[in-house]
Parts: sequence; structure tokens; C-alpha cells
Amino acid sequence: LIQDYFSKNLIEWFKHHGRDLPWRQTRDPYKILLSEIMLQQTQVDRVIEYYHQFLDQIPDFATLEEISEDTVIELWKGLGYYNRARNLQKIAKIIMNDYDGMFPSTKSEILALPGIGEYTTGAVMTFALNIRAPLVDTNVERVYRRIFLQDIHIQSPSELSKIYWFLADQLLPDEKYWEFNQGIMDFGAVLCKANSPICNKCFCRKFCRYYSRRSLSRFL
Ligand code: ADE
Repeated sequence: LIQDYFSKNLIEWFKHHGRDLPWRQTRDPYKILLSEIMLQQTQVDRVIEYYHQFLDQIPDFATLEEISEDTVIELWKGLGYYNRARNLQKIAKIIMNDYDGMFPSTKSEILALPGIGEYTTGAVMTFALNIRAPLVDTNVERVYRRIFLQDIHIQSPSELSKIYWFLADQLLPDEKYWEFNQGIMDFGAVLCKANSPICNKCFCRKFCRYYSRRSLSRFL
């Protein structure tokens, strides 16, 4: 099955070429959530700097709950989209007040937190809680669109979105979902890049619709 082939090769590729990023050395829901919220609108390189500074000052939900909003915003200065920081502090208050400081472990509880959508829910579940959960963001969409959907026309955005989430679930193995989901992030950032994908280094070439189209285009 192409699914199995893709998943196995992605995990293998990630083992050798995956990036060593600070939030991959932890399973702390607070740190994972912080990184994922910063990464929502900001490039990895910039996030690394801010991530460390933020954690130096505010190492956990308990500290974030008590600290002044001004301090939080100050630490966020330069990242923009300040509602992300405000929502993070709201989450800290919910965790401390409603959940006794324990991060919730069900999808519906996580999804209900302010500023948290389907993507971030999937990320926190796999990266922090060790629960198998599919994950789709704009980079993952680009990857699946190229490999599996190139030249297939689907009109409705909601249909398309359902297809991405279906693919993400189908491709995600029962084990090593941490590696798969981290790997798909790096695959999109390193190989299947938005502007210049590096197809000649890619293990998917054999069955990638985008690559097939691209290699035939020189005859057109
Ligand atoms: N972008 C969003 N989440 C990420 C992660 N965990 N690693 C790398 N890039 C990301």
C-alpha cells in the first residue's frame, strides 16, 4: 500500500534528516503548546529565540497564570499577533482553576481552549500527550495536495479540508505517530517546500502526482 510506503519512508527520512528543534526534546504540554502557538504565524528560526526567552521567564502554567499581562506581552514583542499571547494566558488560568493544573487529555476539552483549533489540538495530543491524532496545517495540505491530489479538482473548500484530514488519519501509523507528525512538518519545510520542492532528493517521486506532472511537462 502506498500509505504504508509513505509512512515508513517518511519516518525513516525523519530519523536521518529531521531537524533538532528545542520543543522536540520535551513532552511537557506547556512547552509544546507554547511552541505550537508561536509557530502558528512565525517561522521556526525566529520562534527558537523567543521560545527560550519566554520559558526562562515563564516556565510553566502556574507562573503564567500569576504573571502580569504586560510581562507576557513584553516577552511576545516582535512576534506579533498578540492575541496568541493573551489566549495562552487565558489557557493558563483555565488549567490552574478548572483542571487543578493538569492539562486535559480529551480532544473536546483541548479544542475548547481559547485560540486552539484542530491543528494545535492534534499537535498537543501527539507531541505532548502521546495520543495518536492526525494533524493538518497549510504545509501539510501542500504536501498531500502535491503527492495525492495534483490535478484532481475539488470545488468545495470544506470537502477539500475533509479529504486532507482523512488522508492525515489514513497515513498516520498506529505507532511512531510522534515521528510521523514531526516528520511531515520537516518534510514540508525541507523537501516539499512551497516555492522550490527538492524532488530529486525525495522518496515519494515514484508515486507523487506533482512530480509525475512536473517531469512530463518538458514534453509539453
Ligand atoms: N510548525 C508547527 N509545528 C512544528 C513542529 N512541531 N516542528 C516544526 N515546525 C512546526
